[in-house]
Amino acid sequence: MSHQTLDVAPSRATPTPVPMKRLTVPAIRSRKGKEPIVMLTAYTTRMAQLLDSHCDALLVGDSLGQVIYGLPSTLPVTLDMMIAHGAAVVRGSHHSVVIVDMPFGSYEASPERAFESASRMLAETGAAAVKLEGGEAMAPTVAFLSARGIPVCGHIGLTPQAVNALGGYGARGRSEAEQAKILRDARAIADAGAFAIVVEGVVETLANAITAAIAVPTIGIGASAQCDGQVLVIDDMLGMFERTARFVKKFDDMAGRISAAVETYAADVRSRAFPGADQVYAARDQG
Ligand code: KIV
Repeated sequence: MSHQTLDVAPSRATPTPVPMKRLTVPAIRSRKGKEPIVMLTAYTTRMAQLLDSHCDALLVGDSLGQVIYGLPSTLPVTLDMMIAHGAAVVRGSHHSVVIVDMPFGSYEASPERAFESASRMLAETGAAAVKLEGGEAMAPTVAFLSARGIPVCGHIGLTPQAVNALGGYGARGRSEAEQAKILRDARAIADAGAFAIVVEGVVETLANAITAAIAVPTIGIGASAQCDGQVLVIDDMLGMFERTARFVKKFDDMAGRISAAVETYAADVRSRAFPGADQVYAARDQG
């Protein structure tokens, strides 16, 4: 009898130990008022592998412009960048629903333009859904895409692609007029057929009112624990950056840990402690 050992340790060669059945968009939609939806951003295959089993949804956010590419905002992010990272995240995940952000300029002009961009994104990445920013003005586009088989996650409140119009990244909904407008945005996007809505950077009471007012899940970021789910930028919550938005909770200090590891590496290289005996090859005929 032959004994075969299957090496299931995660590595670059064997990326995923146990393939899991992927959640669906309707499954996320049906979580309204139930177990909170766990969502994080992911931009690379390896990070997707690490996050996948813990999350319900992975968002390939256009925040990758700042996080990965060091750009000053999300505005210069292109469709090609989103497609490359979206495909990488799909390759690294088997369980979570993968949602890819539509970048600035790829959807606002018309529902038809949005369909061209979104259909290319889904076809070339294998992702299940797109996310787009905006309220009432984007409702016809959300309806157009949803009716044509493209699941859409909305994004209202603090919408980073509108940074120039909003005048910064401050919290939204501090005045009654702004609260009423954002509530109208939420209703319009939900009524248009979005399967979920990211609610970013709004006062807590408004996030609660939106969550109570609409029939689809709200996914909060800088919003409220009462939302139907939460999302954070992965690098923020891992502590990769010194400065983050007020609403970010750092669950680790990866920047500190990386710096300490690299400091040790540099010292080992300089002292010739690295590479050691375990990291060099001996010729076969030498003892
Ligand atoms: O781009 C992004 O990462 C996002 C989240 C912050 C919601 O849109």
